[in-house]
Amino acid sequence: MKTENRLALVTGAAGGIGSGIARTLIQSGWDVALNDLNSASVTSLKEELSSGGLTKAGTQIEALSGDVSKEEDVELVFEAINDRFNRVPDLLVNNAGIQTWKPLLELSLQEWERTLATNLTGCFLNTRCFAQHAVKNKQSGVIINIGSGCNKLAFPNLVDYNASKGGIEMLTKSAALELGMHNIRVNCIAPGAIETPRTQGEAGDYQASWSSLTPLRRIGQPSDVAAAVLLLADDSASFISGQTLGVDGGLFAQAIWPENY
Ligand code: NAI
Repeated sequence: MKTENRLALVTGAAGGIGSGIARTLIQSGWDVALNDLNSASVTSLKEELSSGGLTKAGTQIEALSGDVSKEEDVELVFEAINDRFNRVPDLLVNNAGIQTWKPLLELSLQEWERTLATNLTGCFLNTRCFAQHAVKNKQSGVIINIGSGCNKLAFPNLVDYNASKGGIEMLTKSAALELGMHNIRVNCIAPGAIETPRTQGEAGDYQASWSSLTPLRRIGQPSDVAAAVLLLADDSASFISGQTLGVDGGLFAQAIWPENY
């Protein structure tokens, strides 16, 4: 019987949604490895979470900087987890993501490649490394990819982002197909409009703009996404794999419809 807490790796953990996921996992008794490209932010998040009264005695938190799009960095993160926690993670949350707000006609190859490398290649590299370690140790596991409503719908001026998130939808299904025999479940969460420091800067009034479009008449919080992570990571979800769960207040369930119809 396992006596230690279960261990999660969250990528892009210093950001709005990633830090919300990490906080909820820690509150729920998980040990957490926090990965982010931004070394200073992820280190200060570790300090905040370790001293914030959230942790039960014995909870372990580690900050590990690294670029999800670089194979070498991903391998180093998993090696550091092994050194620090002396075990393989039970849960991987592929959350790191970026976008370039530009029309297709103006998007440079460099911008396209950076977004695809971070969002899609990063998800692949971490998924492969997590699964290789789990299979080698004959350990089951859960992978949760953070997609978007644009897994299935094209958002304007986000061609790079749309393509990467559409890819995540198929990567989720392919990985679920191949890793199921190793008792590794792979699912995706597609958030709607979630309030983070990044998104607040995107629209004049982010809350009003998106809550009026959302059937539940509010925008989401990182804690809403984190609640879905807990749900999919739980053993009660042990027969759920290859799926995408919208956490969007119903936003992307609706068709475009003429006004005053
Ligand atoms: P954010 O910008 O606050 O956080 C992203 C984090 O990823 C940052 O801390 C950043 O340093 C890190 N990061 C960027 N490139 C990296 C790399 N190469 N390696 C490691 N870390 C890297 O963004 P937010 O809003 O928290 O989004 C998190 C995820 O949720 C993203 O995948 C995003 O596409 C997705 N999402 C967010 C929505 C929202 O409304 N906030 C809606 C739908 C999806």
